[in-house]
Amino acid sequence: MYILGIESSCDETAASVSENGTKIISSVISSQVDEHKKYGGVVPEIASRRHCENILGVTKAALEQAELTMSDIDAVAVTYAPGLIGALLVGVNFAKGLCMASGKPLVPVHHIAGHIAANYIVHEDLKPPYLCLVASGGHSHIVEVLDYTRFRVAGRTRDDAAGECFDKCARAMGFPYPGGVHIDKAACSGDSEKYILPHPKVTGSEFDFSFSGLKTFVINLLHNSAQKGIEINKNDLSAGIQKTISEILCEKTISAARKLGYNTIAVAGGVSANSGVRSAFEKACAQNNMKLYLPARELCGDNGAMIACQGFFNYLAGHRGDESLNAAATLSLEEI
Ligand code: KG4
Ligand code: ZN
Repeated sequence: MYILGIESSCDETAASVSENGTKIISSVISSQVDEHKKYGGVVPEIASRRHCENILGVTKAALEQAELTMSDIDAVAVTYAPGLIGALLVGVNFAKGLCMASGKPLVPVHHIAGHIAANYIVHEDLKPPYLCLVASGGHSHIVEVLDYTRFRVAGRTRDDAAGECFDKCARAMGFPYPGGVHIDKAACSGDSEKYILPHPKVTGSEFDFSFSGLKTFVINLLHNSAQKGIEINKNDLSAGIQKTISEILCEKTISAARKLGYNTIAVAGGVSANSGVRSAFEKACAQNNMKLYLPARELCGDNGAMIACQGFFNYLAGHRGDESLNAAATLSLEEI
């Protein structure tokens, strides 16, 4: 069956057609990054307006690339939560209109479930149950994937997400938005031992993260050095930040897997494109005899293919939206 997936939760307008979930027939992404770069981050009002302008063209292009029309599509899947509310509303209302006009079923998809599904696209052998770290610009969650549509959140960030920490440290170093990828590049020629950065102590829930202390430490280090006229080596600092974030993500996820009894780990979300994060997980999983699944780099960030893929599983599980479907800026994975 063919699913059309639509994504507009942040600054990418994306549409994709999948066949039986995991086979991607087409995928079109219109990124607004160049525009938001001028402001050093996503401006929600601008994001909503650009989604409005682009969503029809992106969807048409996805259908054209797939050489299909709406009459060939079996269901329309759309991201309805979590994300920027104005941005989500564009996708939700567009998908509702499309379903009303075509008579096709509407399938709501949780954005984090979409990121998790990106791994099914390249890894045919990956099947629940397993433990998934989802690290993106807005989320850092350790998720028990109980089956394709049921999740339990074992840990989450108390403050900043890992991607947000990458981006804010990058911004303080003068890199353009989104800075994660610039830290990744700079870290390649840096010495990760040059700057010793703090690992957070999180009390209470043992699998929760905290990244705001690391961010503040880096910002203070840069300010103090500037005041004293001490030059900071950006490559070395980038390598230190990348190593610290990778260690924090990896240690918590491996320890959650041990404690909760999982031997299979997946990583998903924009931060899973980071080379330090990928190699830290490869090393740790090999040492702990755990099977690791990483998404293809082009499927780490926001895209329509992961929504079409998760939409397929949601469709099979009977999830449907109707004309009253609304978007939600926040919604736990456990509530869907
Ligand atoms: O999943 P995503 O595209 O959007 C959200 O759902 O938030 O994740 C975007 C985040 C940004 O913070 C971006 O800087 C980060 O993923 N990111 C990276 C890399 N590529 C994207 N962070 C570190 N290294 C990368 N190579
Ligand atoms: Zn995302």
